[in-house]
Amino acid sequence: MAKVAKKNNLERILHNQGHGARKLCRIMIINEDITVNGEMCDDPSAMFELAGMQYTIKGDVWDYKEKSYLMMHKPSNYECTHKTQHHPTIYSLLPHPLVERGVQTIGRLDEDTTGLILISDDGQFIHKMSSPKHKVPKVYEVTCKHPVDDEQIAHILSGVQLVDEDAPIAALACTRTSDNVIHMTLAEGKYHQVKRMVSAISNRVEGLKRIKIGELALPEDLKVGEWRWLNDGDMAALSNKSSNV
Ligand code: URA
Repeated sequence: MAKVAKKNNLERILHNQGHGARKLCRIMIINEDITVNGEMCDDPSAMFELAGMQYTIKGDVWDYKEKSYLMMHKPSNYECTHKTQHHPTIYSLLPHPLVERGVQTIGRLDEDTTGLILISDDGQFIHKMSSPKHKVPKVYEVTCKHPVDDEQIAHILSGVQLVDEDAPIAALACTRTSDNVIHMTLAEGKYHQVKRMVSAISNRVEGLKRIKIGELALPEDLKVGEWRWLNDGDMAALSNKSSNV
């Protein structure tokens, strides 16, 4: 059966994409602030096909997205919550319409942790990526206070006992990249897990950066504090679970 193209009117489209209350969207349209697919449209009830739609608001270009899937290179001293306690929120680094759409980080990184974090407004995707059942591996680059020896690596690989956990927890992989730096792959995302595991081997985390989720590596050209949309290749990398760093 042929797929029916999804359409909606311009006022609703702008509202659903996070550009404010319907009344405000209607005013922007009537004020001739909007172009759709290259042409100005001043009719709030004009219908448009959603797939592939591109619009501008006062010159800012937007592609229609049914759902938002993003990655960010989280900076240090930002919190992954909306209501922060001590530092600015990482949501302040996103365009306001995305925040209006209700995007959420998938899991959280500590305020002093940097690196790859995923953000979406697709509940199913968030659940799939964060559910313990799916065990999406995550790789951390951990700078430790003291050099890490073979025995400590063996301990992390065989399992360390953390306070409040029933059984020892082991990393899926752990390799040393220099005297004080290890790459640790974890299947779970327990509270302060890397810091607690490193402290269980009598060492201490001095720097923590997430460098990979599933097969999706933090892109080298994504600077600290920047974000970008996930593309098809990124999505495929996230559904392929094996991770060997
Ligand atoms: N483990 C930690 O200890 N902190 C993080 O931010 C992520 C994993």
